[in-house]
Amino acid sequence: MMRLTSKSVALIPIIATVATVVIGATLIAPPAANAATTLGAAAQQSGRYFGTAVAAGRLGDSTYTGILNREFDMVTAENEMKMDATEPNQNQFSYGNADRIVNLARNQGKRIRGHALAWHSQQPRWMENMSGTALRNAMLNHVTQVATYYRGKIYAWDVVNEAFADGSGGGRRDSNLQRTGNDWIEAAFRAARAADPGAKLCYNDYNTDDWSHAKTQGVYRMVQDFKSRGVPIDCVGLQSHFNSQSPVPSNYQTTLQNFANLGVDVQITELDIEGSGSSQASNYDRVTRACLAVTRCTGITVWGIRDTDSWRASGTPLLFDGNGNKKAAYNSVLDALNAGGPGPTSTTTTTTTTTTSNDPGTGGCTAAVSLNQWNGGFVATIKVTAGSSALRGWRVTTTLSNGTVTSSWSANGSGTSGTVNWSNVDYNANVPAGQSTEFGFQGNGSGAGLNPSCTAS
Ligand code: XIL
Repeated sequence: MMRLTSKSVALIPIIATVATVVIGATLIAPPAANAATTLGAAAQQSGRYFGTAVAAGRLGDSTYTGILNREFDMVTAENEMKMDATEPNQNQFSYGNADRIVNLARNQGKRIRGHALAWHSQQPRWMENMSGTALRNAMLNHVTQVATYYRGKIYAWDVVNEAFADGSGGGRRDSNLQRTGNDWIEAAFRAARAADPGAKLCYNDYNTDDWSHAKTQGVYRMVQDFKSRGVPIDCVGLQSHFNSQSPVPSNYQTTLQNFANLGVDVQITELDIEGSGSSQASNYDRVTRACLAVTRCTGITVWGIRDTDSWRASGTPLLFDGNGNKKAAYNSVLDALNAGGPGPTSTTTTTTTTTTSNDPGTGGCTAAVSLNQWNGGFVATIKVTAGSSALRGWRVTTTLSNGTVTSSWSANGSGTSGTVNWSNVDYNANVPAGQSTEFGFQGNGSGAGLNPSCTAS
């Protein structure tokens, strides 16, 4: 049920206070007044993220981490959260390398896509040789253990990766997991939801970019079926590895839109496009614009930072060259993101906006909460919007009367319950006039009555 309240709080009485009410979560961002200069900041202008795959083994390389820290606001572990990495021996879990990536991301206010809980590939040796009920139970135990360990820290999990076959049939890929029964995918999604109810749960695959391909249709029918039967699925990831044999299809935006129309978010999860120069740049431009044109396309992740970091390094498929310099493809993505698009919708149940201005020299700011509440927990996403002048920093005060914060992203919080003050992190301090940035937190209990108020600082 949509419930709507509004409340105004004047922190300093002499200043006018304006209350505005926002219905739903679709806000049309005006064109950027000042173009953002990093991918993450540019994507945030329309409420989206821009991420990259990260390899723990490269975190000692300062050129690599410099670009990572500066440009990206979402992170995927390239290999470190896969089944072979996290459960090398049955029931012995190993999170060291994954945690290095998770900790870096969280310290920097970046969010994390979890990749991947169940997959036919990169299984530990002990699992490759299993079958039947023993394998089904081992898979479900893995999903439960890993999703529980990272509960509250993951924005979206690729719960199942690459379960459909290539070719003309549109059916499932044969694998040891598939041979445990066709319901293995929905069983994995249910286990993931129970373990981490705050994470978005995604199905992720490749060669699902062309709407006319049988594989795309097969995945579409599965998602449609899951939605109709109440199997918990929130998003579809399109890996989008492109090269001359597998180019960006002309109907790519149609594919994104058709999945979104099923009532799921769509994310581009592993983007790389082989090539160079202006042709590569124009392909990146097309992909970025396709996402921006689809309201529920919530973000883009590229599969690595520099060309030399890529799993397909010889195809020079990324946005930075081997020396860490920005390529033409980088500029085309940044320009496209700055051109903006309608913001993504979310599962808003309550929206409250409170506007406060505390400084006659600024246009103040507003804070609107989008609350996803379930029995026992919640995720609150707070949109901070600059008023008539740019923000150089901001603070948001929230009230948690019956809930406790367990994790947060893109802001620093002063505590976990009662009055909690949130302040910007480095990369989202500057918000152009009329533009927005988002932060969020997850908690136990109730997120009702947060009544956020924003102060320019
Ligand atoms: C790749 C990694 O980039 C490589 O380092 C690794 O050797 C193999 O896996 N689809 C996926 C990703 O979902 O996990 C894969 O990542 C690329 C294809």
